Amino acid sequence: MTAARTTAAHPARTTITAERIAAELTTSRDRSLALLAPLAESDLTRQVSPLMSPLVWDLAHIGNYEELWLLRAVGGVAPLRPEIDSLYDAFEHPRASRPTLPILGPDATRGYLSGVRSHVLDVLDRTPLDGAPLVRDGFVYGMVVQHEHMHDETILATLQLRGGPRTLPPDAPLPVGRAVPPHDDVLVAGGWSVQGTSTDPWALDNERPAHRVELPSFRLDRVPVTNAMFTGFLEAGGYADPRCWTPEGWAHLASSGRRAPMTWQRDGAGGWTCTRFGEVHPVEPDAPVEHVCWYEADAYARWAGRRLPTEAEWEKACGWDPIGQRQRRYPWGDDEPTPTLANLGSRASRPAPVGAYPAGASAYGVEQLVGDVWEWTSSGFDAWPGTRAFPYREYSEVFYGGDYRVLRGGSWATHPTAVRTTFRNWDLPVRRQIFSGFRTAADV
Ligand SMILES: [Fe+2]
Repeated sequence: MTAARTTAAHPARTTITAERIAAELTTSRDRSLALLAPLAESDLTRQVSPLMSPLVWDLAHIGNYEELWLLRAVGGVAPLRPEIDSLYDAFEHPRASRPTLPILGPDATRGYLSGVRSHVLDVLDRTPLDGAPLVRDGFVYGMVVQHEHMHDETILATLQLRGGPRTLPPDAPLPVGRAVPPHDDVLVAGGWSVQGTSTDPWALDNERPAHRVELPSFRLDRVPVTNAMFTGFLEAGGYADPRCWTPEGWAHLASSGRRAPMTWQRDGAGGWTCTRFGEVHPVEPDAPVEHVCWYEADAYARWAGRRLPTEAEWEKACGWDPIGQRQRRYPWGDDEPTPTLANLGSRASRPAPVGAYPAGASAYGVEQLVGDVWEWTSSGFDAWPGTRAFPYREYSEVFYGGDYRVLRGGSWATHPTAVRTTFRNWDLPVRRQIFSGFRTAADV
């Protein structure tokens, strides 16, 4: 990979106005509060898993992050509650330790958030959206909005681990799928493409800058690996065959006792059910497999005689337009996502069946790259050439080079504002409480 000047890049996002920012801030806050509104105080304050924070911690942390960036950094406003800053510093207190902290209760947290927000709208009114990089095109507001949506997805993962009774609203209808043969794949011809962005105003630091990459030809699954395909691996004894696993994955299998995706259990008749937000459903054969860790995704791919795509391959298949020689903001182009293009924004609490979004295909004909399930790639999380931490090191820089694997494309739980072709997510290879699946690739 080499950094280079490129002529192809994202078009600038439609002009970002204070009105647009205010609407985005309202949308993310309404979403957070609606997710938590049905929960009893005891559900908000307890910790359902050492992997997750008490939900009321997430909520106050959302408000504290907004205060730090929008009130103090942009507005120059004096701290509202300086004594709570350290409680909500994610680096000072790992998730497992958060229940022991003297955190704010649910009512005090909601009061704190609304107090912060009332000042934020004043700051937005009096701050021009040009000038310093922090505020140019509303970057820092976009960062805060995306941060809240990321925590909303974390809240959904916590609710999944919590079990029932279900507190989410009924699912919006999802489009029907179509039969797609296993590993029906498309050819992505070798050559150069652009990865990352230098122009997308709300892209976060690890997505920058745009740079040229050269890749050999490869093939990529048209759709994500389904539950039926993963069941084939499972029933063929894949979890008991060390040839399918990396040594680390095999060791983890032994210590964790994992024998199926996180939410699956035997139905008593030789089949499988899964638990979704406390409700038991049959495993849907045609839906993308969900709640698998990187080791499981990698093992399946080996079993199938294939491999996980690299991050660069995934991004090229998603965003590159080989005819126009330019990068698209989404697989289908630059238009904002709609419910007929992708399954995003937790309108439904599950992935849609494969083949449900033909209109959302990329230039190469690859479908469901954005939405449904985060897709594991084979790549570790590393810095793009020429990147720089902005506006703080702890979003990305401190994670580069660690034992993380990159996930791409967002899930059904990801808000449309918090995903695009260049968006990068990462997690440890053992993690599967996230809404993670995968598709496979093959050399040509
Ligand atoms: Fe955070």
